[in-house]
Amino acid sequence: MTLISVSFFSLFLQIILYAIVAGGHRINDCPIIAQEVYNPSPGKNSYIAASYVKYLESAGARVVPVIILFPGGGASIFSSGYAKAAGVFYRLALEANSEGDYFPVWGTCLGFEQLTLLTSGKSLLSHTNTSGVALPLNFTKEMKDSRMFKDFPEDLMTSLANEPLTENSHQWSVTTPDFTANQQLKEFYRILSTNLDGQTEFVSTVEAYNIPIYGTQWHPEKNAFEWSHAYIPHSSAAIKTTFYMAQFFVNEARKSLHKFSSQEEEQNALIYNYQPTYTGAKSSFEQMYFFD
Ligand SMILES: *[C@@H]1O[C@H](CO)[C@@H](O)[C@H](O)[C@H]1NC(C)=O
Ligand SMILES: *[C@@H]1O[C@H](CO)[C@@H](O)[C@H](O)[C@H]1NC(C)=O
Repeated sequence: MTLISVSFFSLFLQIILYAIVAGGHRINDCPIIAQEVYNPSPGKNSYIAASYVKYLESAGARVVPVIILFPGGGASIFSSGYAKAAGVFYRLALEANSEGDYFPVWGTCLGFEQLTLLTSGKSLLSHTNTSGVALPLNFTKEMKDSRMFKDFPEDLMTSLANEPLTENSHQWSVTTPDFTANQQLKEFYRILSTNLDGQTEFVSTVEAYNIPIYGTQWHPEKNAFEWSHAYIPHSSAAIKTTFYMAQFFVNEARKSLHKFSSQEEEQNALIYNYQPTYTGAKSSFEQMYFFD
């Protein structure tokens, strides 16, 4: 089971994605990614942005929504149902991976912030001016040893380092000094990139040293699939960024051997049972899936 924790914009909507792989081969070519959907407004439909679904499908995964309703209002990375669920998955991932059971975890945006909280045991967030801006990645020296970027083409790495290809939609970040001063974070994660909001340097991409846990403070899925804001990049290199990130994660999911217990259960769970709705005229997402 592969878990990706994803969030957009703010503290108000989060998704946890996890992949369940069908079949018992060592490398699975039919990865299924499931999305856990959370809606903090009681009585309203749960929804997810279709961009996350398309992002994963573009790299060869199928998607399953897992709807979890947490009673009682707003999401907090400290105490919400989302936070509790993320904590459970995080611990399951640590346990599974320590037993040789491949269980990748991904955190995007708030999911990234959540990972830093889970690893360090405390919030290290600082306010940054990054609520709608595309930036180039400032790669660290350690990036050269990374799993995440090692199969990226050289021209794309050059573009990522020099062009604003990574879209940031967050108001909180972990500054580089705070990250590196924290023993748990420093020992657990290799910092792959940082960014500046003009004044404050923050950590923007990480991977855990010995375990398939990954985080980006930026949104790899938006470039190819979201058009609501002028700051979302759509150049050829920007679309390649979306694809290579998706390909990396889905390849990680291919190493997971978890699966549904029957084909029928699998078919009934797939996102193909739901239709996305065009919402671009009134929201930040072009298409969304709504769940009763
Ligand atoms: C925040 O960043 C934007 C560019 O993304 C800049 O135009 C703006 O002046 C910054 N605001 C502050 C308060 O620094
Ligand atoms: C990139 O990171 C290095 C090391 O932290 C720092 O010295 C440099 O100023 C950063 N450059 C930018 C453009 O953020």
